[in-house]
Amino acid sequence: MFRSKWISQRADMVPWSGVRKMFNYAQKYSDVINLSLGEPDFDTPQHIIKAAIEAMKKGYTHYTPNAGLIEFREAVAEKLRKENGIDVDPETEVIATVGAMGALSLAMLTVVNPGDEVLIPNPGFASYEAQVILAEGKPVSYSLNEDEGFDINAEEIAGLITNKTRAILVNTPSNPTGSVLSEKSLKKIAEIAVENDLLVISDEAYEAITYDNFRHVSIASLPDMKDRTISIFSFSKTYAMTGWRIGFAAANEEIIRQMTKLQEHLAAHPSSISQMAAIAALRGPKDHIKKMVKEYSERRELIMEELAEIPEIKCFRPQGAFYVFPNIKAFKMSSEDFAMHILEKARVIIVPGTAFGNNGEGYVRISYAASKEEISRAMTRMKQALKT
Ligand SMILES: Cc1ncc(COP(=O)(O)O)c(C=O)c1O
Repeated sequence: MFRSKWISQRADMVPWSGVRKMFNYAQKYSDVINLSLGEPDFDTPQHIIKAAIEAMKKGYTHYTPNAGLIEFREAVAEKLRKENGIDVDPETEVIATVGAMGALSLAMLTVVNPGDEVLIPNPGFASYEAQVILAEGKPVSYSLNEDEGFDINAEEIAGLITNKTRAILVNTPSNPTGSVLSEKSLKKIAEIAVENDLLVISDEAYEAITYDNFRHVSIASLPDMKDRTISIFSFSKTYAMTGWRIGFAAANEEIIRQMTKLQEHLAAHPSSISQMAAIAALRGPKDHIKKMVKEYSERRELIMEELAEIPEIKCFRPQGAFYVFPNIKAFKMSSEDFAMHILEKARVIIVPGTAFGNNGEGYVRISYAASKEEISRAMTRMKQALKT
């Protein structure tokens, strides 16, 4: 005798993930190739796994401080100073979180009042909208347009600001578009934030994965930005550690203090074992990152070449992350119908662009976090399916 009134309006308001939806549809088919997932197909490097085992043996199996072990925060502070140009006090300006996702939700709950507006990219990672809604804020989307290289349009963003706007969320490298924001673009956002006294929530989960001459820049490293930015990072993509659920955020001391208070009641802290593994990741050899980026880069070439053989498809060349976001408008089908057609006829799972916001209509997201063989097989099947 389940009654639907038992489900809260808050839970009900949060939309279902479009990525999951495709994945669930696909369950009834066999022999499917999955190019829908946002996770590295590499294994976590062995030295990180060893560090986790050692940590367990040494007794790191207990609660840790709510902001994470101080050793973890020190390793993070060192990394942020060296790699990102962000100078933080490990005691007060860093928090260990349950992935970047945990950091995002704590950030929203900490800075968004009911009714506050948060500017989010559209197309953008679907959890942004859900997280703003959970914090009882109002997601307001700013567009990333293919004809502008999926870069931000500062004029549009400035025009969306009202007296309710609390924060601008930026995501670079971007999921799903694969664009990387240049320092020039980030400076424009910084200017808008300073002028309007706004916060910036900066999701840098894909920071390590950039191609050609594109380099990741952290907006918090720009002048006047450190105190108004919540910088969010993850071990999931850089170290192929999605299942370990470990990430972190850096921000002004008071924001971190409040995020830590909330984390105490929500998750307490990320796993002690994952924190110890993450220290080994930060302090250990980094050669796997170069290898992984090289491999992604080759797969990007492969998938771009394959897509170029389909005359109706136009595709922005990704600058970072591991997704292509091809324009399928010439097929005159909705993104969802297109993705369903590909699933039914080619047995390949891809994600309709609308899973990332209404500006994703006319696009699909294809992940190249899959082997070259799988990508080739999937593309051969897709090309065949598109002939019908
Ligand atoms: C843009 C973006 N941010 C955050 C996350 C969440 O990462 P994590 O595994 O660290 O929670 C993802 C995962 O796919 C992502 O694509």
